Amino acid sequence: MNVGVLTGGGDCPGLNAVIRAIVYKGLNQYKYNIMGIYEGWKGLLEGGPIAPLTIEDVVGIQVRGGTILKTSRTNPFKHKKGIELIKKTLKKYKLDAVIAIGGEDTLGVAARLHQEGIKVIGVPKTIDNDVAGTDQTFGFDTAVNIATEAIDRLRSTAEAHNRVFLVEVMGRHAGWIAVQSGIAGGAHMILVPEYPIDVDKLVTGIVKRHARGEEYSLIVVAEGARLKKDGGQSDYILQEPEKDEFGHVRLGGIAYILAKIIEEKTGFECRNAILGHIQRGGKPTAFDRVLSTRYGIHAIDLIKQKKFGQMVALRGTKIVGTPLVSAMKKAKTIDKEYYKIAEVFFG
Ligand code: F6P
Repeated sequence: MNVGVLTGGGDCPGLNAVIRAIVYKGLNQYKYNIMGIYEGWKGLLEGGPIAPLTIEDVVGIQVRGGTILKTSRTNPFKHKKGIELIKKTLKKYKLDAVIAIGGEDTLGVAARLHQEGIKVIGVPKTIDNDVAGTDQTFGFDTAVNIATEAIDRLRSTAEAHNRVFLVEVMGRHAGWIAVQSGIAGGAHMILVPEYPIDVDKLVTGIVKRHARGEEYSLIVVAEGARLKKDGGQSDYILQEPEKDEFGHVRLGGIAYILAKIIEEKTGFECRNAILGHIQRGGKPTAFDRVLSTRYGIHAIDLIKQKKFGQMVALRGTKIVGTPLVSAMKKAKTIDKEYYKIAEVFFG
């Protein structure tokens, strides 16, 4: 059996640990050939590079961020004859099955390819933690820890200067990183894409804190958070309006906009810190290394069991297989009940 492995979409800490687990169990226990497909779906579309992965290639890589297989945001369905080209590559390299490690975009492609008769297994990843069908994606815990560390550091400088600090974290449609790091870091307000930002409420909270003698504030905001406007929400704040092959724009800058608004309305000195890709870089936490390893082991087990069209998922404390289409359901976002835990500490 020849099994191809690819990583697609934005990288995230833990990808290498998944690859390592697939290679160890695939080679040593199942005697499969494990082939690395480079740069995500692009590698299959363009006919390579694709090369065998050995134990030597993956020894110790669970500690490294990024992905030894590289990644891309290529969507084969946006390319002419995409499926034909993929099938041609699979035939050329005699690949019997593919393990696709990615977020909702990569897994969405995997689900469609499965419908086209290609034997695929998915592994869900993203620092945003918004993939449906699993309790948690790997990479998220690392991102939360990085953001929490940043909030802790910004607290001392905010306090020293009596400033309002806006810390912007990633999260397009879901505020998981914002909420988790905000609770852990003791943020005075956490703003997420799920609930529009009420500027008046935000400003009142800051002013009240000030009046109580708490002259600094820490506000965590997700990049996808928007302002409440005319019964709806304002547009997203964009770094780059151009869309990628999956229709995503590049978000960023809401912290800057809010800092300006708050400074204008309160007269308090404001600063913003946009964490950006720092959250996605570097070594994974122990939790993410273990979750990724368990995902990789379960993914190769699903291949052995011929459970194609499935992805691995965390359910409670167990790793299970679930149909790939589960990842296509509505993104997993923060419900009101969970957000209420954070709200206890606002203001
Ligand atoms: O992978 C998810 C994510 O990290 C989002 O939180 C963020 O908006 C996006 O990727 C950034 O993508 P890129 O690396 O393409 O700029």
